[in-house]
Amino acid sequence: MTRLWLVLCLWLSLWSESVLGSILAIDYGADFIKASLMKPGQPFDVLLNRDSKRKIQSTVGWKQKDRLFGQDAANIAGRFPLDSFSHLKILQGAPYESDAVSFYTAISSADTVKTERGTVALRRSDGTEWSVEELIAMQFAYVRDLAESTAGEKIYDVIVTVPPYYTQYERDAVVDAIEISGLRTLALINDGTAVAVNYAMTRTFSEPEYHVIYDAGASSIRATVVEFAPVASDGKSKAGKDATQITVHGVGFDRYTGGTELDARLRNMMLADFEKRYKRSISQDKRAMAKLWKEAGRVKAVLSANSEAQATIESLAYDLDYKAKFTRAEFETEARDLKHRFAVPIQEALARSGRKLDDITSVIMTGGATRTPMIQDAVKAAVGANKLAYNVNADEAAVLGAALHGASLSRQFRTKDIRITDIGPYDIHISYQAESKQPGARPRTINSLVFPSGSKTGTKKTLTFKRQDDFKVKLGYKVPLLRGWPTDILEAEIQGVAEAIKNITEAGATDPVVKATVMLSESGFASIRDAIVTGEFKDESIAGKLKDFFGKGSPSSAPVDETTADVGSAEDDTASTSTSSSLATEATTTVFTKKEPINLEIDVKFSSLPPLSVTEKRAGREKLKAIDAEEGAKRRREEARNTLEGYIYKLRDLLADESSDSPFMKCSQSSERKRLAEKVDEAYAWLQEHGDDADTIQYIDQRSALESLERPIVHRYKEIEEFPQALNNSQMWNWSSRMFLTEARLNTTKELEAGLPTKYTKEELDEFEKVLKDHESWLNEWVEKQKKVKMNEDPVILSSEMRARAKVLENHLQKLYKKRPPKAPKKSSSSSASTSSSSSSESTTGSAEGTASASASASSASDTASSSQDPHRHEEL
Ligand SMILES: *[C@@H]1O[C@H](CO)[C@@H](O)[C@H](O)[C@H]1NC(C)=O
Ligand SMILES: *[C@@H]1O[C@H](CO)[C@@H](O)[C@H](O)[C@H]1NC(C)=O
Ligand SMILES: *[C@@H]1O[C@H](CO)[C@@H](O)[C@H](O)[C@H]1NC(C)=O
Ligand SMILES: *[C@@H]1O[C@H](CO)[C@@H](O)[C@H](O)[C@H]1NC(C)=O
Repeated sequence: MTRLWLVLCLWLSLWSESVLGSILAIDYGADFIKASLMKPGQPFDVLLNRDSKRKIQSTVGWKQKDRLFGQDAANIAGRFPLDSFSHLKILQGAPYESDAVSFYTAISSADTVKTERGTVALRRSDGTEWSVEELIAMQFAYVRDLAESTAGEKIYDVIVTVPPYYTQYERDAVVDAIEISGLRTLALINDGTAVAVNYAMTRTFSEPEYHVIYDAGASSIRATVVEFAPVASDGKSKAGKDATQITVHGVGFDRYTGGTELDARLRNMMLADFEKRYKRSISQDKRAMAKLWKEAGRVKAVLSANSEAQATIESLAYDLDYKAKFTRAEFETEARDLKHRFAVPIQEALARSGRKLDDITSVIMTGGATRTPMIQDAVKAAVGANKLAYNVNADEAAVLGAALHGASLSRQFRTKDIRITDIGPYDIHISYQAESKQPGARPRTINSLVFPSGSKTGTKKTLTFKRQDDFKVKLGYKVPLLRGWPTDILEAEIQGVAEAIKNITEAGATDPVVKATVMLSESGFASIRDAIVTGEFKDESIAGKLKDFFGKGSPSSAPVDETTADVGSAEDDTASTSTSSSLATEATTTVFTKKEPINLEIDVKFSSLPPLSVTEKRAGREKLKAIDAEEGAKRRREEARNTLEGYIYKLRDLLADESSDSPFMKCSQSSERKRLAEKVDEAYAWLQEHGDDADTIQYIDQRSALESLERPIVHRYKEIEEFPQALNNSQMWNWSSRMFLTEARLNTTKELEAGLPTKYTKEELDEFEKVLKDHESWLNEWVEKQKKVKMNEDPVILSSEMRARAKVLENHLQKLYKKRPPKAPKKSSSSSASTSSSSSSESTTGSAEGTASASASASSASDTASSSQDPHRHEEL
């Protein structure tokens, strides 16, 4: 880790700080969320939660009215099984009638309901329903808030990891959740690929190497065959600046054989054991099932490091405590049918990539479930112990790799040059109905594989259609991928074909066709980007025409000539006046011939499992905002209440100690204390009676009433503390002014005696003396008065007024002080000017003596800002 930080610090320190935004990376797992923050100028690391943990349980829940996240939300499952939501990742994008939902309901005590879209929502104990996307959005927002408080700034962009096997429906669900949370999707990245980026971060490759990233997570197991190869950046091989190319060649996966399935097996063992022992069924008891689930996870973790573990659940059901011992051997026997499945994804990935095990340098183990000995053993048996590599952080490699990739996408960061070529794992085909040859004939459906499985992501393909009218194309998966899931992705109607063909034909094109561009994006989304009508145009440049003319003979046979008349008859007239044959005519005509392809409208519909509509997302966002607002109001109310409570206790303490010579006692009168004590008792009684149901403003009002009684006392005390300093300040200006005046008068006399012009006029100095005397007499008078004021009485002069008056004197002094010296006699003007200016720049501090240095230091202490802005100041010194 340390080495990695150093490398990154080096890169990251090279940015300019100014306008860069932070990027958030989230690895959203079925069990845990890992997040990382990329902030310009900071070394990046995994984001810590409020308890300084490096991973956050993927759970959101409610304890009655309080929303909870992470561990807190997971912990309440035993008490509020309907209000604690874990493993939501399994439900992302899943149709209500699908294997994903059956799997979820087998492991979770939460209540699922079907949404209008046919996906899943969860119903709380209070009857409110939350879609999976909304609940995940809450978790994204929670992570965003953590990141914002770490970064000290707003965060907008996020990159999220997804399993490579995620279908478009599931990827849509991730993006929908991101948008509901208020974040922007920078990209989605396949988690195996993200781990590969992390692996490449601190390594260089002198020749291509193949590795398998084996990722055993909570919900699933996946294997990715990755090639790491050196490439010279920018085509030029600059020493030390070479880039790494990561190419994904194949993936294999098992959606339901991960850590969660193992938890489920252990849970079932405990359930069966309990029911056998006590002859009672508890599988319908949601609290008991939630407690069993939590304990199963703990016992599994213990069994990863020990050969046996003790399960203990207090008051599991029927007031019975449950205690049992489980051995790793028993557990492995229970899960033995899974054992052969653990390594299958590696074989699949190798087969799809066309590599053999011998080509593979290492199998890089990552994901929390790789800690389970059974899984380790299975992989070891399949690939050989010498290939197993535990050289990335099993929990954090994916999120750190994602963060680095996100940083490179945003182009704000200078990162190591790591390029990614990823693939889509499924066959995606396009289908459309052929134009019927005869009216009434049954239309034929044509299927074409646009992106076969293994196609590179981030690629476009252009398809050509010979159509005369609007038509529809469908994008979808070639075969059903999962039981209960659709195959259609989208249907696009390409509109305005007939008119566009007419226009382009009129513009001179022949053989018009429709060209549609389909894209498989970097984030794995298939879409129809655009559709155009285009046709064959004659080369109408002069050179082309010449070729036509001399090559093919008669130019009038070209169809272009027929359109010239339509395009611009006025020009035609002009052209016809020209004697120089058709060559000139056609050259003129090209100016008026439209040759650009014509864009067509595309109307996209999602027939089967659509992503959330803008309206739905907005509604979700509003729901989340409403909770945030409610929670904010609640927090402010609690703060107001706590502040009032604390204040009442503080005042009581102050009032209680009658004998004390505390500032409060010294500065208050007994009548004031009596009134304050009454009000404190009143507020206390109010708090007892209304404390639980009052509004924020009422707490604040109560506090203000108390403050208005305490304020005069505090004020006195503050003034007593302030007074000596304010007096000192006044005396200082008094003294400096007096010294200045004495010296200035002396200088004036000398100057007059020497017949030189005086710097100050008599009037100036007299006026200043008057101001000074006023200040002195005011100060003397009020200082005397103030001396007679008792500590528990209000002061007669305020320190603020003393300072203000001293400031008036100071400003006057400064003005005189900064006055330019009179012009010296002509003959020596040039030389004296240059010396004075050169010495001025050196003597910025204290080279002057006497009064000047006294007032200079005084002014710099109290008025630094204004004096340093004065360009003449140094010259004067
Ligand atoms: C065809 O041309 C007409 C007339 O210039 C224009 O209004 C129309 O928008 C064009 N249609 C298309 C599809 O380009
Ligand atoms: C007054 O200010 C001067 C200079 O800042 C300081 O040396 C002196 O201790 C101060 N006196 C009091 C009473 O604060
Ligand atoms: C102000 O200065 C004059 C002359 O130095 C002195 O007599 C007077 O007591 C001073 N006033 C105060 C309040 O320090
Ligand atoms: C008085 O004259 C001396 C010598 O020229 C000079 O340094 C000083 O700043 C003058 N004092 C005032 C108050 O002008």
